[in-house]
Order: sequence, then C-alpha cells, then structure tokens
Amino acid sequence: MLDTLSTFTKMIDRFSGHFQRTRATEVYPNQSPLSCLDIYGAVINTQPDVVIEVGTSHGASTIAIAMALHDLGAPLSMFTTIDIHQGLWHGSTRTVQSDIFDAFDFSPIHTLEQDFATVNPEPLLYCKPEVLVFFDAHDQPNQPSISKILIDNWFPLMNNGTILFHDFTLVLPDPANFPGLPDNTSTATHFSGKQFAGFKEIDTVIPWLNDNKIALTILSDSLIKFEVKK
Ligand SMILES: C[S@@+](CC[C@H](N)C(=O)[O-])C[C@H]1O[C@@H](n2cnc3c(N)ncnc32)[C@H](O)[C@@H]1O
Repeated sequence: MLDTLSTFTKMIDRFSGHFQRTRATEVYPNQSPLSCLDIYGAVINTQPDVVIEVGTSHGASTIAIAMALHDLGAPLSMFTTIDIHQGLWHGSTRTVQSDIFDAFDFSPIHTLEQDFATVNPEPLLYCKPEVLVFFDAHDQPNQPSISKILIDNWFPLMNNGTILFHDFTLVLPDPANFPGLPDNTSTATHFSGKQFAGFKEIDTVIPWLNDNKIALTILSDSLIKFEVKK
C-alpha cells in the first residue's frame, strides 16, 4: 500500500507540475494521492468483473483503477472509461507513463469518447455478476441529469453493483459551517442523518438512496460508496 501511495503521490505531483519540467505537462489534478488510494482500495475490495468510469478527464482515477486491476491480476480490457473528450487522457498517460509507470501499457483500457447519456449499458454489463462504477462526471444545471440515467437505465441491469460517487462532501451538521461553498452547491441529507454538499447529482442521488433505503459508506472526505442489488 505504501508503494502504491508513493506512486500516486508522484503521479499527482507530476500532473500538477510539481517538478516544473514544462508548462505543457501541468494539469489540474482532480484527485489527491489519498483519493487515488481510496479508489484503488475500493476496486481491490470489490474484485469486480467489469469497471465503468464516467468522467475520465486527465485520468488520475483511471490510473488508480488500472493499477488495482493490474494488482488483482485482472485484464485491463474489462475497464471502460467514458468521457465526451478523451484528449486529456491520451496526453496525461504520455506525461506519466515512462517516468512513473515504467511504460505500463494502458492501451487495453476501453476509452469511450461519448456522452454518457447515449451509452448503451447492455453490452457492457451483460452477464457481469460484480459491477463497479466510478462516477466522476457532474450533472449541470438546466441539462438532463446523467446520474438519473445511471439510476434508471444502468442499475436495473446490475446483479451486484458497487457505486462510487466522487465529490460528495460530508457537511454535517450544517452547510452554514462551510462558508466557502459556492452559491450553486447542492446539499441533501441522507436518511442516516449525514448531510452532503456537492454538484447537482446530489439532488438526484441522495433522494433516490433515501427512497430505496440504501445505506452508504464514506470512503473519504469526497468519496461515497453504496451497493445496488437485483
Ligand atoms: C471531474 S472530471 C473527471 C476527473 C477524473 N475522474 C480524474 O480523476 O482526473 C469530469 C469529466 O466528466 C466529463 N463529463 C461531463 N459530462 C459528461 C457526460 N455527459 N458524458 C461523458 N463525460 C462527461 C467531463 O468532460 C470531464 O472530463
């Protein structure tokens, strides 16, 4: 685990231009080394038959998932990562590949350049007992909710689904205690009493968990996990 954390630390440092090698390699890291380790650990614990990531971007989380699958001895071809644009991913793997991952071959990962709303889940989930979804794309105001598409179209096809949502931040007891939250932050209270803030998917996901009495686990200050079963 320590080796894994130091690898993620190097990766995030590299992504954020810590080494100041060239401006061109400097990107905003969506993850911290610890959040990468949380994602890695969730994959290791789940031992999924298929992994779907929604929101690749620069792919810090993509790499964390790939490392976990590699350490499980699972083929990377069981992993599909979806983004409207995949250019950042291709750039960042080039950035970290040779000097951090020793030319690790990320190419078997199935990168889907497509709006999640239009992806057909059936071929991806067909006959897969254990599904892991890492959801890191965000619902936008005045646009159809993609988290609702996940719930309505994908969940019914899963026998056992482990779902990870990034950017659900616990703000109990009162969001007023977090004066830095932007005005458009969504907040909702899970039936367990935990109150979350985040992007617009909070408005869809927490009420759905409440309606279905589904418990959740907080894996870190910005990552929640829950399970869906047939
Ligand atoms: C917060 S970033 C993902 C960060 C990434 N997981 C990481 O660890 O670096 C969100 C990504 O979701 C993508 N996205 C937003 N809406 C989407 C949609 N409807 N379908 C596919 N991708 C979408 C955006 O293009 C963006 O790259």
